[in-house]
Amino acid sequence: MSVVTIIGAGSWGSGLALLLSDNNHEVRLYDVDKTVIDEINEHHTNKKYLPEGKLPEKVKGFNNLEDALSNTEIVVTVVPTKVIRNALKAVNQALKHPVIFVNASKGIEPQTFKRVSEIAYEEIDKDKIIGFVVLTGPSHAEEVIQRQLTTVTCASDNIELAEYCQKIFNNDEYFRVYTLNDLIGAELGGAIKNVIALAAGILTGLGYGDNAKAALITRGLAEMRRLAVKVGAKEETLFGLTGLGDLIVTATSLHSRNYQAGLKIGSGKNLQETLASIPMVVEGVRSCEACYYYAKQLDVDMPITFAVYDVIFNKREPRDVIKKLMQRDLKHE
Ligand SMILES: NC(=O)c1ccc[n+]([C@@H]2O[C@H](COP(=O)([O-])OP(=O)(O)OC[C@H]3O[C@@H](n4cnc5c(N)ncnc54)[C@H](O)[C@@H]3O)[C@@H](O)[C@H]2O)c1
Repeated sequence: MSVVTIIGAGSWGSGLALLLSDNNHEVRLYDVDKTVIDEINEHHTNKKYLPEGKLPEKVKGFNNLEDALSNTEIVVTVVPTKVIRNALKAVNQALKHPVIFVNASKGIEPQTFKRVSEIAYEEIDKDKIIGFVVLTGPSHAEEVIQRQLTTVTCASDNIELAEYCQKIFNNDEYFRVYTLNDLIGAELGGAIKNVIALAAGILTGLGYGDNAKAALITRGLAEMRRLAVKVGAKEETLFGLTGLGDLIVTATSLHSRNYQAGLKIGSGKNLQETLASIPMVVEGVRSCEACYYYAKQLDVDMPITFAVYDVIFNKREPRDVIKKLMQRDLKHE
């Protein structure tokens, strides 16, 4: 049994807390939002983020970071990526001993294009980080909290550490964990797929059908692969759980906030109205901005990402943007 501290008691943090508690670990769930923590401790529910779920009573909520981190072995970060740097700074300040960092958030930093592993190595003192693992793959919190069958991957530059975390998170009944030694591919796959999920929602909101969705997923994967490989990912990673697998689940399921946000934008709502109507984080919007500038800087062609950027940030009409996509020069697949 390990002591595991989860930073971020939102949907996915709560889903992982249930899983780790089922695996008989001591689980501490930390959040800056005191009302969420009080509800977890008093009622073992988290209605704002997981209306359907119930947490085991042994999962304890914490609002004090030092208490949450004392003698813990593993720190799992599950906060929106826009706060991840600050959250890691706070963890570094409160932490008194070395731990394994596992990140379950998905995204890259817009101005720096840094992945969460890079941010962690910048923000955590060397003597407090044993190593870094990313846990990612097709995994909606809403299904994990119902203990529905799920597969994910633990990726790390240190394969022994990935294997160690694989055993911590794996559950023979409902949560199967693979390992991977391609951190770049796993982190970028998880970030870029949210942009394609927005596009999938937009297409559906506009009334396009399954042919368009299949085209989007396939061509979306092609541009995920182009960007990731350009910066050192292994091509095959993009065809695995952390790439194609995550892309399928997020671009086809109503559980995906990115897909839902796209649906609303495609049906004519503006970005502000859309984001205000979804209480949880919609990572695809920020990832879209990051991927747009990253691809421009690296001279990588990402027509779908550029189209989503045009709709969201340049307020272009989705139908005009799709027309432009369809009228590009013909080419070999
Ligand atoms: N929801 C899912 O099914 C799912 C699955 C896999 C990965 N993810 C990824 O996990 C990340 C979190 O997503 P979510 O769905 O749980 O988000 P969410 O919006 O449901 O919850 C985020 C939580 O983080 C808390 N928080 C904000 N700032 C904090 C800080 N500085 N310190 C501690 N807590 C803080 C918020 O109070 C909130 O409780 C995202 O990057 C998302 O892409 C989500």
